[in-house]
Amino acid sequence: MNLIKVENYEEMSQKAAEIIINKVVNNPKITLGLATGGTPEGTYQHLIENHQKNQTTYQHVKTVNLDEYIGLGATDPNSYRHYMNEHLFNHIDIDFENIHIPNGAATNLQEECRSYDYVIDQLGGVDLQILGIGRNGHIGFNEPQTPFNSKTHIVELAPSTRKANARYFNRFDNVPTHAITMGIASILKSKEILLLVSGEDKAEAMQRLQHGEISESFPASVLKKHNNVTIIADKKAISSCLVSP
Ligand code: PGA
Repeated sequence: MNLIKVENYEEMSQKAAEIIINKVVNNPKITLGLATGGTPEGTYQHLIENHQKNQTTYQHVKTVNLDEYIGLGATDPNSYRHYMNEHLFNHIDIDFENIHIPNGAATNLQEECRSYDYVIDQLGGVDLQILGIGRNGHIGFNEPQTPFNSKTHIVELAPSTRKANARYFNRFDNVPTHAITMGIASILKSKEILLLVSGEDKAEAMQRLQHGEISESFPASVLKKHNNVTIIADKKAISSCLVSP
């Protein structure tokens, strides 16, 4: 894994956007794997600013998102579909036909999982997957103990994940208990992975990622098996690595 150390969240966002823009310019038909959460917000803001300033086009770009809450429809302000529209898609020239996000309100969720993997295969796989990391090492919503060979599936969210995401909801009880997520095997099939890590509350996860063993109890550790992973991490996320063994 290649590690790019940056000063802070802003520099991480800038660097990530720079890498993504470069890929899009060089391959206008790229399939991007996208993530939600607090981590990529700054990156998306930079993509929007660049699009407005330099007219970088996303007309032929395809996107595949990692996950979606079960029970939240596309227009629900807390759905990831809504997040993506607000933080990126509504502000660039992407063709909405080219956007793929699991449908958390599907009546047949098992079928939704199967067809999501099919869509990814039909696109020829993800060229560049953007990832965040959970405090418990989850990637997408693949919580600890998710088998490394998992495809898109339904997960019960870990209490710590619901707690971390409760900041977006009025009440903790409103945080969905389940989600659809691309599986670990689906993520690993991406040709290239860009993992963004910022802030001291990610330092423990970062340390485990760098120095821990590869284990299903820490899903992100599987990234060590992939041959093209770049991590952009800021000082606060790396800091505990400097003081601990
Ligand atoms: P965050 O979430 O970016 O909001 O910290 C990351 C994750 O849970 O994967």
